[in-house]
Amino acid sequence: MKTHQFEVLVVGAGGAGLMAGLYASRTAKTAIITKLYPTRSHTGTAQGGIGAALGSQEEDRPEWHTYDTIKGSDYLGDQDAIEFMCNEAVQAVYELEHMGLPFDRTPDGKISQRPFGGHTNNITGKPVRRACHAADRTGHMILQTLYQQCMKNNVTFFDEFQAIDLLMVDGAAAGVVAVELATGEMHVFHAKSVIFATGGHGRIWEITSNAYAFTGDGPSMIMRRGLPLEDLEFFQFHPTGIYKLGILITEGVRGEGGVLINGKGERFMEKYAPKVKDLASRDVVSRAIYMEIRNGNGANGQNYVYLDVRPESVNKYAAADGRLNLDGTPLNVTGEEILAKLPDIVDFCRVYLGVDPITQLMPIQPTAHYAMGGIPTNMYGEAISDENNTLVPGLYAAGECGCVSVHGANRLGTNSLLDLVVFGKHAGLKAAEYARGASFKTLPDDPTEFARAQLERIRQADGTENVFDIATKMKKIMFDDMGIFRSGKGMQNALEVIRDLKRRYQHVTVTDTGKIFNMEMMNVWELGNLLDLAELTTVAAIARTESRGGHSREDYPERDDKQWLKHSLAWAREDGRIELKYKPVVITRFEPKLRTY
Ligand code: FUM
Repeated sequence: MKTHQFEVLVVGAGGAGLMAGLYASRTAKTAIITKLYPTRSHTGTAQGGIGAALGSQEEDRPEWHTYDTIKGSDYLGDQDAIEFMCNEAVQAVYELEHMGLPFDRTPDGKISQRPFGGHTNNITGKPVRRACHAADRTGHMILQTLYQQCMKNNVTFFDEFQAIDLLMVDGAAAGVVAVELATGEMHVFHAKSVIFATGGHGRIWEITSNAYAFTGDGPSMIMRRGLPLEDLEFFQFHPTGIYKLGILITEGVRGEGGVLINGKGERFMEKYAPKVKDLASRDVVSRAIYMEIRNGNGANGQNYVYLDVRPESVNKYAAADGRLNLDGTPLNVTGEEILAKLPDIVDFCRVYLGVDPITQLMPIQPTAHYAMGGIPTNMYGEAISDENNTLVPGLYAAGECGCVSVHGANRLGTNSLLDLVVFGKHAGLKAAEYARGASFKTLPDDPTEFARAQLERIRQADGTENVFDIATKMKKIMFDDMGIFRSGKGMQNALEVIRDLKRRYQHVTVTDTGKIFNMEMMNVWELGNLLDLAELTTVAAIARTESRGGHSREDYPERDDKQWLKHSLAWAREDGRIELKYKPVVITRFEPKLRTY
């Protein structure tokens, strides 16, 4: 066992972790541990843009961004935190620009912006250009830029270290236990402040845009230390994943004028969102695609529809919608322009599907994309432990693993990159501030005990259950019964299956019992996280007898503000019970209204 001491320890090196590490390192001795190589983090797959009301090309205002985000959240987002994020957005984007991020430019040199779902001019109700982009590689550029800044600032990195346990002493965070993947050796990271930035848990679902690494490690560690998780029942399905593979096709395609087409060749979003059509919020568009498929309008009788960004279609639909260039001329985009704006999308489709989006339709289906819920925090990234917002000293979370909550029941596209930059920064600042006034807690004699017990149980497992089979069944039932549409009966069925899989998980078998890069064992540990989070998600969803944002129940189709305008908090108790409590949503300026797009 090796021990290290840092004032601030960040777990995860995606955008939130790097931003937190960067800001903390300005005043505190800071390390980042990550199970990947930092620039392989999932932020690198974010495509279409980061939201900020810069108004580069047309009028926009942070208060419109605020309102759109609140409306997009189906009024479950905390309005004080949303306003804070949208006001900070403009500065955050300029800061990234000054760090060297190569944003695309307008002809007169400003940061180029494209429309995205749910982002509107609040006066006309029409889509507004708010997503600042670097082609369709915006997340990749953020990750590279922040990593360079962290290197410049001498942040210490521990790459390929899998965090297993959060150390807590007297109710405060005191460090993390991690395994060095190359050696299998346990490391204790003794810290005054711990920031979790471990990303999401979309690998619970069968079809997902999420990387293999997205196994909910941070929330699971928190949960096992007796802390609650917030709003897990809300999970976002992105409307456009590559059929069967789930790989993201950015909403930026629709931002650039692409449209959804059903199997009959009809453009269908005008039925579901007459004002903004293909640029409605993601929950609305994903449901519309499912309705089309259910009504027999899937392509070739299958579970997919098409996304059409062929230049002649883009120009045709723009003319039909009266959508012009900013100088008032009719749209006349070319294949070269589409390729320049969406190079990765074109590449993905050519490579994975053998389809060329410049001349052919892309087969797409909704894909599990983003956890709105996670580790509860306030807007400074400080973790909270109960419905009274009691702080957990020294513990912070930011990015997808956290729940501020700025996304409520449904996140708007481009707000995840914004969330991780804004709240990563504030978590880093707060963690460093706390570390300045705190001393290192005395750790127990063997801080690795709980982590070792978890891994030894897996190493010594000699059952007959197949891990792959358990994972496959979990993903399938979650996609079928805990997907875009849910019902009490279906969710109850999912819960029974998940609980049965959890029982089977106790009797798995592992073939590699060695120490060096034992990824089989790590994958089994990660599967345990996914199963735990699948159970919590399902229990919280069954309890919520309404439809709101990404949680759409066929047996309770209406939103019920009287009973359910509140956040859930779920605890996994030691006796196996899941306890749910609730806390109010912060409403400041915008009274809840029913949404139309
Ligand atoms: O569609 C996209 O480019 C995804 C963006 C996001 O999830 O914010």
